[in-house]
Amino acid sequence: MNTPIALAQALSTFDAFWSPRIVGHVNDYDVRVAKVAGEYVWHSHPDTDEFFLVLDGRLEIALREDGRERTVVLETGSVFVVPRGTEHKPSAVPGASILLFEPTGTENTGTHEGELPGHLTTSAGVPL
Ligand code: NI
Repeated sequence: MNTPIALAQALSTFDAFWSPRIVGHVNDYDVRVAKVAGEYVWHSHPDTDEFFLVLDGRLEIALREDGRERTVVLETGSVFVVPRGTEHKPSAVPGASILLFEPTGTENTGTHEGELPGHLTTSAGVPL
């Protein structure tokens, strides 16, 4: 049954970092939430933009654009869209959580260089 989901309560049901849980669908898109801490991996999503909303804490996203690198800082309540095909590497201090909006089936690690660091796993999100 379709029922409201309290995000704070949903986030309290798991501990894994960078492991998105699907809290809803909008047409062909997932609404996902994740706890985040430490460094992610440089990656890109060749077929889709990726929407971030910071629910708690602070998220930094390093970006490689036109041969240059910059970092955007997202405080709680901030939104940012990483454009399709843009290399990015999020990082966060423990305690941060984010909401992601992206097409169903999109893998979190996208296209990345080399081996995946041991603390990360590839996932297209799992139900709460
Ligand atoms: Ni990404």
